[in-house]
Amino acid sequence: MLGLKLPTDPRWVNIVEKNIEDILTDHAWCEQKAASTAVSLIVSFPEYTDLIQEMIALVKEEISHFKMVHDKILERGWILGRDRKDEYVAQILSFFPKGGSRTTQLIHRLLYAALIEARSCERFRLLSEQLEDRELAEFYRKLMVSEANHYTMFLGFARKYGDRTEVDQKWNDLLSFEADVMKNLSKHQSIHG
Ligand SMILES: [Fe+2]
Ligand SMILES: [Fe+2]
Repeated sequence: MLGLKLPTDPRWVNIVEKNIEDILTDHAWCEQKAASTAVSLIVSFPEYTDLIQEMIALVKEEISHFKMVHDKILERGWILGRDRKDEYVAQILSFFPKGGSRTTQLIHRLLYAALIEARSCERFRLLSEQLEDRELAEFYRKLMVSEANHYTMFLGFARKYGDRTEVDQKWNDLLSFEADVMKNLSKHQSIHG
């Protein structure tokens, strides 16, 4: 599914199940960062008109996801906690070399976004299938569908703006790199950790 090379260890759901407040907090910040990523693509690459149009829609959608998760936190009588460092994201960023042409930088940012969306989608699917809390499971099922569309959109833009063969090679290398990163994760109550 989604091209990912290593499925999440199913035991990760057990860790999450015991820490619903932590996972919702981490998840809320993931949605906020997804909205920020879309804004920053608008700021950095204004001349890519069709990308901008999609990013405007995405900002709205991701911030509405942020609200949905925030509402879930409030419904359960909690208050949104502070954001924490995302170890997964830090490691994934190290895959991309600094510099390069403007197009290369755009492609890297699109592939990075596609990967985060793909892994989030895979984890939402696991939560939707395995959480004993059926209300929360249904919540994740709906979100899973949106994130799958985001993954294909980002990958589609990378293929459109870059050389198709080079982009596909880089995407494949990124997926292998990510599988290695994942081997040492899946042990924490965070969306990617
Ligand atoms: Fe989202
Ligand atoms: Fe998304």
